[in-house]
Amino acid sequence: MKDNIALIGFMGSGKTTVGKLLAKTMDMKFVDIDKVIEAHEKKSINDIFHEKGQIYFRDLEREVILQESSKNDCVIATGGGSILDNENIKRLKETSFIVFLNATIECLYLRLKDNTTRPILNGVDDKRKVIEELLEKRKFLYQISADYIIDVNEYTNIYETVDKIKEA
Ligand code: S3P
Repeated sequence: MKDNIALIGFMGSGKTTVGKLLAKTMDMKFVDIDKVIEAHEKKSINDIFHEKGQIYFRDLEREVILQESSKNDCVIATGGGSILDNENIKRLKETSFIVFLNATIECLYLRLKDNTTRPILNGVDDKRKVIEELLEKRKFLYQISADYIIDVNEYTNIYETVDKIKEA
């Protein structure tokens, strides 16, 4: 049964911020998959990527999504790359109403340009270009996974976003 709401979308699209507010206003629990992974490993996402590699991280991400999505009444903020795994999409579709926060490149760039907590974007020369390329590869997966899509830009009001999700 679809008891949860899962937020999907690129890094910086607002899944955590929107998710926390949505959970609060709907009296649901908030689960951040990356935070569960960090707690499990007692390490930051950066350190997990550096010390154990991306494949290790993706395996753990799959396990944590499986575990957390079996709970009820949760708003689940997923990591931006979780849709790269078919099993994650299948599992989230079974258990959750999936909302894609579809942020513009400009919005993502502004939010990510000075951020250092995303290992995939750390140390790249042209961040905007890498964001564009990654989004190009992933957008289709976000779209086909979603039950509902919300366009987001740098001026979008978070309360309006939450209201739209509640209505949907
Ligand atoms: C990733 C997104 C991150 C985190 C990890 C990998 C990705 O989550 O899971 O750095 O591949 O897009 P956020 O989308 O919450 O930043």
